[in-house]
Amino acid sequence: MTKVLVGLQWGDEGKGKIVDLLSQKSDMVIRFQGGCNAGHTVIANGETFKLHLIPSGILNPNTICILGSEVVIDMEVLINEINSLKERGISLDNFHISPYAHITMPYHRLTDSLEEKSRLKKIGTTAKGIGPTYTDKVNRSGIRLIDLFDKNIYFKRLFEIIEKKKLALSVYKDFIESDNAFDLYSVYNESLNLFESLKPYIKDSTDLVYQYKKSKKSIIMEGAQGSMLDINSTDYPFVTSSHTLSGAACLGTGITPMDITSVLGIAKAYATRVGSGNFPTELEDNDFDSIGYKIRKEGKEFGTTTGRIRRCGWLDLVLLKKAVLANGVTELALMKIDVLNDFDEIKICVDYDKDKNPIYVSFDGWEKINFPNIHDNVYKYIKFIEDYLEVPIAYLSVGPEREMTISLSKTSIEL
Ligand code: IMP
Repeated sequence: MTKVLVGLQWGDEGKGKIVDLLSQKSDMVIRFQGGCNAGHTVIANGETFKLHLIPSGILNPNTICILGSEVVIDMEVLINEINSLKERGISLDNFHISPYAHITMPYHRLTDSLEEKSRLKKIGTTAKGIGPTYTDKVNRSGIRLIDLFDKNIYFKRLFEIIEKKKLALSVYKDFIESDNAFDLYSVYNESLNLFESLKPYIKDSTDLVYQYKKSKKSIIMEGAQGSMLDINSTDYPFVTSSHTLSGAACLGTGITPMDITSVLGIAKAYATRVGSGNFPTELEDNDFDSIGYKIRKEGKEFGTTTGRIRRCGWLDLVLLKKAVLANGVTELALMKIDVLNDFDEIKICVDYDKDKNPIYVSFDGWEKINFPNIHDNVYKYIKFIEDYLEVPIAYLSVGPEREMTISLSKTSIEL
C-alpha cells in the first residue's frame, strides 16, 4: 500500500502532523521533493519537533525514513536537525539519504538572496537557496552527495563550477558583501566536513523500496509545500522550484504510478499563504479586530522556517477543487478546524464574479469543539466541503497534538 500525502493549498497545511500520525502504523516514509524551505511541526507526547528535511515519520523508531533524490539537501541544516533529534533520544538508525540528492551550496543561498533583491516584484522566497539548487540540477551544474565521495573529482568539479558562478554573479557585485560563498577552499573544506557527519546515512534505498513494495508493506510518500506552489502552477513565478503534486512522488524514489494506492490531500479549514502571489480570499489583518488578525493569532500563523507572518483568508473551494483534481485526491484531511472556534460567521468561497472577486457562502459559527464531541455547525461546515470537492474527509484535526485527530468514515459524513 503506497499512500501519497500532499498539501492542497500554499503549504503549511499540517502535513507533518498527519505523516507522524499515519507513520505510527507505516513501514516506510519517503520525502520526495523540496528542501529546507519546508517546516513540518509535529507535537507528540507533549513535545514539539520542528522538522525541515527529515521525514515526519522519524518519531516511530520502526519506520524507515528516506530522503529521495528530488529532495535538495542543505547539509548544515540537516546535521543540526539530526543532532537535535538525537539529543532528544530519537533514533536515527532507520534514516537514509539518497546519494543522488543535490546539495544546496553556500553560493545557492547567496544567489537566492541576490536574485530576490534584484526582482522588481518579490517572490518572497525563504532565502534557503532552493531555486538556485534546482536551477543548477536542471542545468547539470549541480553537486550531488555522491560527488563528495571522491575528493579529487569533487575538487575539480567545484573549481569549474565556482569559476563560472563568479563570472555569472559579477552582475551583482555591488550587492555582494562577503564572497566566502565563492571561496573555493573554504567551500570545499567546509562541505567535506559536513559530508563526513552525513556519511553514515547516505545509502541508496531503491532496492529496499522495491522489497517493501513486493512484500506489500505500507509506504507513505511525504510531500512538502503545497499544490498551489508547484513550479507549474498558474501563479508562476510566485511558486517554489519543485514539483509539489502527487505525481512527483514517483520521481527518484523507486515508486512508480502503478504503486500508488491512495492520495491523501491535506487542507486547512481556512487558507494561509507566505510570500507574494495571488490570494483571492485574503482577509484584512490591519487591526486587532480584523478577522485576518484573529485567524492568524488563533492559528499561530507564523512560518516555521522563516518566522514570517502568514497571510490569512477564508477557505477557497474553487482553488481547492483544482488541487484535488490535479493530485487525484482520494481522501482528505481537514486541519485546524478548532482555529475557527468563536466566530459568529464563517465563509467559504464557492465561485468568483466577473471581476474575479470571491463569491461566498456563509455558515453559522460554533463556540468550542468539545473533543471528541463535535458541534453540529462543524459538521455542516465540513459536510459542505466534502460535497463540493466530492472527496471524503477521512481525518479532522481539532488541535495540534497527535491525539487531537478524529478519524471519520471513509465513505461520507453523516449529518
Ligand atoms: P522558495 O521555495 O524558498 O523558493 O520560496 C518560493 C515561495 O514558496 C515563497 O512564497 C515561499 O514563501 C513559499 N514556500 C516555500 N516553502 C514553503 C513552505 O514550506 N510553506 C509555505 N510556503 C513555502
